[in-house]
Amino acid sequence: RSQDVKKEDGQDTDEDDWTNVTSTIERLTRRKLLSNPAHPLSILTDIIFSKFPEQEYTRAHFPDPRVSVYENFESLNITPDHVSRSKTDTYYLNKHKVLRTHTSAHQVESFRDYTTPGFLIAADVYRRDEIDRTHYPAFHQMEGGRWWSPQGMSSIEEFVSKINEDTAKIPVSEIKIIDDTLPFHDGNPKQDGQHPEVCIAVANHLKRSLEMVVGGIFENIVQGDASTSKEPLQIRWIDATFPFTSPSWEMEVYWQGDWLELFGCGVTQQRVFDRAGYPERVGWAFGLGLERLAMVLFGIPDIRLFWSEDPRFVEQFTPGVVSSFKPFSKYPGTYRDLAFWLKDGATPEQFHDNDLMDVVREVAGDLVENVSLIDKFTHPKTKRNSLCYRVVFQSMERTLQNDEINILQNNIRDSLMKKFGIELR
Ligand code: PHE
Repeated sequence: RSQDVKKEDGQDTDEDDWTNVTSTIERLTRRKLLSNPAHPLSILTDIIFSKFPEQEYTRAHFPDPRVSVYENFESLNITPDHVSRSKTDTYYLNKHKVLRTHTSAHQVESFRDYTTPGFLIAADVYRRDEIDRTHYPAFHQMEGGRWWSPQGMSSIEEFVSKINEDTAKIPVSEIKIIDDTLPFHDGNPKQDGQHPEVCIAVANHLKRSLEMVVGGIFENIVQGDASTSKEPLQIRWIDATFPFTSPSWEMEVYWQGDWLELFGCGVTQQRVFDRAGYPERVGWAFGLGLERLAMVLFGIPDIRLFWSEDPRFVEQFTPGVVSSFKPFSKYPGTYRDLAFWLKDGATPEQFHDNDLMDVVREVAGDLVENVSLIDKFTHPKTKRNSLCYRVVFQSMERTLQNDEINILQNNIRDSLMKKFGIELR
């Protein structure tokens, strides 16, 4: 079978027409929130890590978010035409290097390098995105993986029972599975060449492992709250698609009236094991976004708070403890509208929201709570297109002054004119 060769051309510093990392983002890459054990994201990470046996799962560290296009995309079968690879969605250092968009970027090396059959990774990841209470261009993910090798086994039956034995060792959680999926079916197929019983065994180990994790995490907080009834936690499994797993699923948890999407996961594509140099292995992988879960567990209302250096945030938390966030007062927000004409002949589709978001971030950073498109129209005569965005300025730490907001607003307007040749209205 063919092996991809990892190319290492291009320096991080060589900019080209792919470069779109701004200085704001560059600064975020240096914050390293997970290196503080008292940060809520670290507390959550440590709790999840503690659910997996240490002798079976290596805790792997990848402090540098700069990875190759090969690692982030190609090694995971994500083809050049995939939307996630576009410049409007991903931060490129240059044509060959990106800020990882997911911890899956480290799957191949993790399946290749450790002496244990499992691994866990927690790290910062970056995606170009809108500005609101739950989106931030930098966030954190956890990745897990587990493999088995049929080497030394005399039959498929023996191999399958080895995997099933490992599954039987996973503590059973008291949760209620509201919806489950078939192990595989036409819409969510097993891989060609994989024995169906092997696929089923791996899938069971994966599902039981993740059920054990959520059961454990939510137990922590439910126990802390005497008023909560002892109804078991409800979860559901849903079919999904990822280029590097098949079959694939998502797990959702029912929490305070909403279904919260937690894990993306699946049976690892053989191509990933091929690239790790172990084509005979089979296994699974999962990915988990940490912020959304931490917001729920700690009651943190705005994703910007994770990046706050305000002692009233930073000093609230204790390693090992899930405590509820004690809000300092919510400071008032003020909005300004940004209305402008696009260049002659330009369509609204040619102006990407995320380009505006990065301009706003460069100028105003975390003083912006939300940006939304509120109006779009075409002039009946000139046919020029106009867009209007509403920018909500709000600090989590103090009351903003009008003068200060006006300066920010003017700087955003200037920067938009220079960068995109728009005409302000
Ligand atoms: N990397 C995927 C994401 O960011 C999640 C995932 C990880 C899915 C591992 C399957 C296996 O959405």
